[in-house]
Amino acid sequence: MRNLSESTLTDAVLATLLTSHDARFKQIAESLVRHLHDFVRDVELTEDEWFKAIQFLTATGQKCDDKRQEFILLSDTLGVSMLVDAINHRFPEGATETTVFGPFYQSGAPELVNGANIATGVVGEPTLFTGRVLDHRGEPVAGATIDVWAVDGEGWYDVQLAHLDEMQVRGRFRSDAAGRFWFWTVKPVSYPIPTDGPVGPMLHAMGRHPYRPAHIHFMLSAAGFRSVTTHVFVAGDKYLDSDAVFGVKNSLITEFVTKAAGTAKDGTVMATPYVEAHYDFRLAQDHS
Ligand code: BEZ
Ligand code: FE
Repeated sequence: MRNLSESTLTDAVLATLLTSHDARFKQIAESLVRHLHDFVRDVELTEDEWFKAIQFLTATGQKCDDKRQEFILLSDTLGVSMLVDAINHRFPEGATETTVFGPFYQSGAPELVNGANIATGVVGEPTLFTGRVLDHRGEPVAGATIDVWAVDGEGWYDVQLAHLDEMQVRGRFRSDAAGRFWFWTVKPVSYPIPTDGPVGPMLHAMGRHPYRPAHIHFMLSAAGFRSVTTHVFVAGDKYLDSDAVFGVKNSLITEFVTKAAGTAKDGTVMATPYVEAHYDFRLAQDHS
Protein backbone atom coordinates (compact mmCIF):
# COMPACT_ATOMS: atom_id res chain seq x y z
CA MET A 1 0.00 0.00 0.00
CA ARG A 2 2.46 2.62 -1.19
CA ASN A 3 2.71 5.15 -3.97
CA LEU A 4 -1.06 5.39 -4.15
CA SER A 5 -2.40 7.61 -6.91
CA GLU A 6 -5.66 9.07 -8.13
CA SER A 7 -6.36 5.83 -9.93
CA THR A 8 -5.34 3.33 -7.21
CA LEU A 9 -6.47 5.02 -3.95
CA THR A 10 -10.09 3.88 -4.02
CA ASP A 11 -9.20 0.19 -4.43
CA ALA A 12 -6.60 0.49 -1.68
CA VAL A 13 -9.18 1.83 0.78
CA LEU A 14 -11.72 -0.81 -0.30
CA ALA A 15 -9.13 -3.54 0.26
CA THR A 16 -8.86 -2.55 3.94
CA LEU A 17 -12.50 -3.49 4.40
CA LEU A 18 -11.97 -7.11 3.39
CA THR A 19 -11.14 -8.00 7.00
CA SER A 20 -14.36 -6.51 8.39
CA HIS A 21 -16.35 -9.07 10.41
CA ASP A 22 -19.71 -7.38 9.98
CA ALA A 23 -21.15 -8.11 6.53
CA ARG A 24 -23.71 -5.28 6.59
CA PHE A 25 -21.16 -2.76 7.88
CA LYS A 26 -18.79 -3.88 5.10
CA GLN A 27 -21.47 -3.45 2.45
CA ILE A 28 -22.34 0.07 3.67
CA ALA A 29 -18.71 1.18 4.14
CA GLU A 30 -17.68 -0.11 0.69
CA SER A 31 -20.50 1.73 -1.01
CA LEU A 32 -19.82 4.89 0.97
CA VAL A 33 -16.12 4.90 0.05
CA ARG A 34 -16.90 4.23 -3.60
CA HIS A 35 -19.51 7.02 -3.83
CA LEU A 36 -17.43 9.49 -1.83
CA HIS A 37 -14.35 8.96 -3.97
CA ASP A 38 -16.41 9.14 -7.18
CA PHE A 39 -17.98 12.38 -5.95
CA VAL A 40 -14.58 13.97 -5.20
CA ARG A 41 -13.31 12.87 -8.61
CA ASP A 42 -16.48 13.99 -10.38
CA VAL A 43 -16.34 17.58 -9.09
CA GLU A 44 -12.51 17.69 -8.82
CA LEU A 45 -12.81 19.06 -5.30
CA THR A 46 -10.34 21.86 -4.48
CA GLU A 47 -8.58 21.99 -1.11
CA ASP A 48 -10.56 25.14 -0.23
CA GLU A 49 -13.83 23.37 -1.00
CA TRP A 50 -12.74 20.33 1.00
CA PHE A 51 -12.02 22.55 4.00
CA LYS A 52 -15.34 24.42 3.62
CA ALA A 53 -17.12 21.06 3.71
CA ILE A 54 -15.23 20.13 6.89
CA GLN A 55 -16.24 23.46 8.46
CA PHE A 56 -19.86 22.98 7.37
CA LEU A 57 -20.08 19.51 8.94
CA THR A 58 -18.33 20.75 12.10
CA ALA A 59 -20.82 23.62 12.45
CA THR A 60 -23.70 21.18 11.84
CA GLY A 61 -22.55 19.03 14.75
CA GLN A 62 -21.96 22.04 16.96
CA LYS A 63 -25.55 23.21 16.38
CA CYS A 64 -26.94 19.95 17.81
CA ASP A 65 -28.13 19.57 21.39
CA ASP A 66 -30.97 17.74 23.16
CA LYS A 67 -33.57 20.05 21.51
CA ARG A 68 -31.97 20.65 18.12
CA GLN A 69 -30.78 18.08 15.56
CA GLU A 70 -29.14 19.92 12.69
CA PHE A 71 -27.93 16.68 11.05
CA ILE A 72 -31.52 15.45 10.75
CA LEU A 73 -32.50 18.82 9.32
CA LEU A 74 -29.66 18.44 6.80
CA SER A 75 -30.89 14.96 5.92
CA ASP A 76 -34.46 16.30 5.59
CA THR A 77 -33.51 19.19 3.31
CA LEU A 78 -31.39 16.96 1.06
CA GLY A 79 -34.30 14.54 0.62
CA VAL A 80 -32.44 11.73 2.42
CA SER A 81 -35.01 11.40 5.21
CA MET A 82 -37.84 10.91 2.71
CA LEU A 83 -35.76 8.38 0.76
CA VAL A 84 -35.08 6.35 3.92
CA ASP A 85 -38.78 6.66 4.79
CA ALA A 86 -39.83 5.39 1.34
CA ILE A 87 -37.46 2.41 1.44
CA ASN A 88 -38.61 1.39 4.91
CA HIS A 89 -42.37 1.84 4.48
CA ARG A 90 -43.35 0.03 1.32
CA PHE A 91 -47.00 -0.28 2.35
CA PRO A 92 -49.61 -1.96 0.16
CA GLU A 93 -51.70 0.16 -2.20
CA GLY A 94 -54.45 2.01 -0.34
CA ALA A 95 -52.69 2.15 3.04
CA THR A 96 -52.07 5.65 4.40
CA GLU A 97 -48.74 6.89 3.13
CA THR A 98 -45.94 7.90 5.48
CA THR A 99 -43.96 11.11 5.51
CA VAL A 100 -41.09 12.72 7.37
CA PHE A 101 -41.09 12.45 11.18
CA GLY A 102 -39.53 15.87 11.80
CA PRO A 103 -37.72 17.07 14.92
CA PHE A 104 -40.65 18.36 16.97
CA TYR A 105 -42.26 15.19 18.35
CA GLN A 106 -42.29 14.98 22.15
CA SER A 107 -43.09 11.78 23.99
CA GLY A 108 -45.45 12.01 26.94
CA ALA A 109 -48.16 14.14 25.32
CA PRO A 110 -51.36 14.10 27.40
CA GLU A 111 -53.86 11.26 26.83
CA LEU A 112 -57.13 13.00 26.06
CA VAL A 113 -60.75 12.05 25.46
CA ASN A 114 -62.22 12.51 22.01
CA GLY A 115 -63.49 16.05 21.56
CA ALA A 116 -60.77 17.59 23.78
CA ASN A 117 -59.10 20.83 22.72
CA ILE A 118 -55.31 20.57 22.32
CA ALA A 119 -55.00 24.29 21.66
CA THR A 120 -56.89 26.00 24.49
CA GLY A 121 -55.73 29.62 24.69
CA VAL A 122 -53.50 29.17 21.63
CA VAL A 123 -53.54 31.79 18.88
CA GLY A 124 -55.17 30.56 15.65
CA GLU A 125 -58.45 29.62 13.96
CA PRO A 126 -60.42 27.06 16.00
CA THR A 127 -60.57 23.81 14.07
CA LEU A 128 -62.49 20.58 14.59
CA PHE A 129 -60.47 17.67 13.21
CA THR A 130 -62.35 14.40 12.76
CA GLY A 131 -60.82 11.16 11.57
CA ARG A 132 -61.36 7.45 11.28
CA VAL A 133 -58.89 4.61 11.58
CA LEU A 134 -59.70 1.84 9.09
CA ASP A 135 -58.12 -1.42 7.97
CA HIS A 136 -57.39 -2.40 4.35
CA ARG A 137 -61.03 -3.48 3.84
CA GLY A 138 -62.37 -0.19 5.19
CA GLU A 139 -63.47 -1.79 8.48
CA PRO A 140 -63.02 0.31 11.64
CA VAL A 141 -59.97 -0.23 13.83
CA ALA A 142 -61.04 0.37 17.43
CA GLY A 143 -58.59 1.28 20.19
CA ALA A 144 -55.87 2.64 17.89
CA THR A 145 -53.54 5.20 19.50
CA ILE A 146 -53.35 8.49 17.63
CA ASP A 147 -50.54 10.89 18.58
CA VAL A 148 -51.02 14.41 17.26
CA TRP A 149 -48.70 17.43 17.17
CA ALA A 150 -48.72 20.68 15.23
CA VAL A 151 -47.76 24.35 15.21
CA ASP A 152 -49.85 27.16 16.66
CA GLY A 153 -51.62 29.65 14.39
CA GLU A 154 -48.38 31.60 14.00
CA GLY A 155 -46.27 28.64 12.88
CA TRP A 156 -44.43 27.78 16.12
CA TYR A 157 -44.12 24.43 17.88
CA ASP A 158 -44.35 24.66 21.67
CA VAL A 159 -40.70 23.54 22.04
CA GLN A 160 -39.62 26.56 20.01
CA LEU A 161 -41.26 29.02 22.43
CA ALA A 162 -38.73 29.78 25.17
CA HIS A 163 -41.35 31.24 27.53
CA LEU A 164 -43.51 28.07 27.46
CA ASP A 165 -42.74 25.32 29.93
CA GLU A 166 -45.75 23.15 29.16
CA MET A 167 -46.88 21.25 26.08
CA GLN A 168 -49.42 22.75 23.70
CA VAL A 169 -51.01 21.57 20.45
CA ARG A 170 -50.15 17.96 21.32
CA GLY A 171 -52.33 15.10 22.41
CA ARG A 172 -52.90 11.39 22.33
CA PHE A 173 -56.32 10.00 21.39
CA ARG A 174 -57.90 6.58 20.96
CA SER A 175 -60.26 5.51 18.20
CA ASP A 176 -63.74 4.44 19.37
CA ALA A 177 -65.64 1.28 18.39
CA ALA A 178 -66.43 2.81 14.98
CA GLY A 179 -62.76 3.73 14.44
CA ARG A 180 -63.52 7.43 14.98
CA PHE A 181 -61.54 10.06 16.81
CA TRP A 182 -61.91 13.84 16.97
CA PHE A 183 -60.36 16.84 18.64
CA TRP A 184 -60.28 20.63 18.57
CA THR A 185 -57.10 22.46 17.64
CA VAL A 186 -56.08 25.54 15.65
CA LYS A 187 -55.74 25.49 11.87
CA PRO A 188 -52.06 24.84 11.09
CA VAL A 189 -50.19 27.40 9.01
CA SER A 190 -47.11 27.05 6.81
CA TYR A 191 -43.85 27.78 8.64
CA PRO A 192 -40.11 27.95 7.97
CA ILE A 193 -37.85 25.20 9.24
CA PRO A 194 -35.05 26.59 11.46
CA THR A 195 -32.53 28.58 9.40
CA ASP A 196 -30.23 29.82 12.18
CA GLY A 197 -27.85 26.85 11.70
CA PRO A 198 -25.72 25.79 8.68
CA VAL A 199 -28.79 24.43 6.87
CA GLY A 200 -30.11 28.03 6.52
CA PRO A 201 -27.19 29.33 4.39
CA MET A 202 -27.14 26.02 2.49
CA LEU A 203 -30.78 26.53 1.42
CA HIS A 204 -29.97 30.12 0.50
CA ALA A 205 -27.01 28.99 -1.64
CA MET A 206 -29.32 26.52 -3.37
CA GLY A 207 -31.83 29.31 -4.09
CA ARG A 208 -34.48 27.61 -1.96
CA HIS A 209 -36.98 28.90 0.61
CA PRO A 210 -37.24 27.20 4.03
CA TYR A 211 -41.04 26.77 4.19
CA ARG A 212 -43.14 23.69 4.89
CA PRO A 213 -46.79 23.66 3.82
CA ALA A 214 -49.31 23.70 6.68
CA HIS A 215 -49.84 20.26 8.22
CA ILE A 216 -50.76 18.32 11.34
CA HIS A 217 -48.45 15.47 12.39
CA PHE A 218 -49.99 12.08 13.19
CA MET A 219 -48.51 8.86 14.52
CA LEU A 220 -50.93 5.93 14.62
CA SER A 221 -50.48 2.49 16.09
CA ALA A 222 -52.79 -0.46 16.73
CA ALA A 223 -52.21 -4.12 17.57
CA GLY A 224 -51.88 -6.23 14.41
CA PHE A 225 -51.14 -3.24 12.16
CA ARG A 226 -48.02 -1.44 11.01
CA SER A 227 -47.55 1.89 12.73
CA VAL A 228 -47.69 4.94 10.52
CA THR A 229 -45.99 8.31 10.99
CA THR A 230 -47.45 10.89 8.67
CA HIS A 231 -49.02 14.34 8.23
CA VAL A 232 -52.33 15.67 6.99
CA PHE A 233 -51.71 18.71 4.80
CA VAL A 234 -54.02 21.69 4.27
CA ALA A 235 -55.39 21.78 0.69
CA GLY A 236 -54.53 24.95 -1.20
CA ASP A 237 -51.36 25.76 0.76
CA LYS A 238 -48.95 27.70 -1.42
CA TYR A 239 -45.96 25.52 -0.45
CA LEU A 240 -47.46 22.12 -1.34
CA ASP A 241 -45.29 21.97 -4.46
CA SER A 242 -42.07 23.22 -2.86
CA ASP A 243 -41.92 21.68 0.63
CA ALA A 244 -38.42 22.34 2.05
CA VAL A 245 -38.21 18.68 3.15
CA PHE A 246 -39.95 16.97 0.19
CA GLY A 247 -42.68 15.43 2.38
CA VAL A 248 -45.91 16.13 0.47
CA LYS A 249 -48.03 13.31 -1.00
CA ASN A 250 -51.36 13.98 -2.73
CA SER A 251 -53.10 11.29 -0.68
CA LEU A 252 -52.32 13.22 2.53
CA ILE A 253 -53.98 16.51 1.51
CA THR A 254 -57.44 17.39 2.82
CA GLU A 255 -59.72 20.45 2.81
CA PHE A 256 -59.86 22.60 5.93
CA VAL A 257 -63.30 24.17 5.42
CA THR A 258 -64.29 27.44 7.10
CA LYS A 259 -67.79 27.28 8.64
CA ALA A 260 -70.06 30.05 9.87
CA ALA A 261 -70.79 30.27 13.62
CA GLY A 262 -73.19 27.54 14.70
CA THR A 263 -73.20 23.96 15.91
CA ALA A 264 -70.12 21.96 14.87
CA LYS A 265 -70.25 18.27 13.88
CA ASP A 266 -69.44 17.17 17.43
CA GLY A 267 -72.24 19.27 18.95
CA THR A 268 -70.01 22.14 20.14
CA VAL A 269 -71.80 25.46 19.75
CA MET A 270 -69.43 27.98 18.14
CA ALA A 271 -70.14 31.69 18.51
CA THR A 272 -67.50 32.55 15.88
CA PRO A 273 -66.54 31.04 12.51
CA TYR A 274 -64.45 27.89 12.78
CA VAL A 275 -62.80 25.30 10.54
CA GLU A 276 -63.59 21.62 9.97
CA ALA A 277 -61.29 18.97 8.49
CA HIS A 278 -61.63 15.21 8.11
CA TYR A 279 -59.23 12.40 7.19
CA ASP A 280 -59.60 8.62 7.08
CA PHE A 281 -56.41 6.71 7.93
CA ARG A 282 -55.99 3.21 6.53
CA LEU A 283 -53.55 0.94 8.34
CA ALA A 284 -51.58 -1.85 6.69
CA GLN A 285 -51.70 -5.25 8.36
CA ASP A 286 -48.59 -6.33 10.21
CA HIS A 287 -47.54 -9.75 8.90
CA SER A 288 -44.33 -9.94 10.92
C1 BEZ B 1 -41.76 19.28 10.79
O1 BEZ B 1 -42.68 19.09 10.05
O2 BEZ B 1 -42.02 19.48 11.95
C2 BEZ B 1 -40.35 19.33 10.26
C3 BEZ B 1 -39.92 18.31 9.43
C4 BEZ B 1 -38.61 18.34 8.97
C5 BEZ B 1 -37.78 19.38 9.31
C6 BEZ B 1 -38.23 20.41 10.14
C7 BEZ B 1 -39.54 20.39 10.60
FE1 FE C 1 -44.22 19.99 11.22
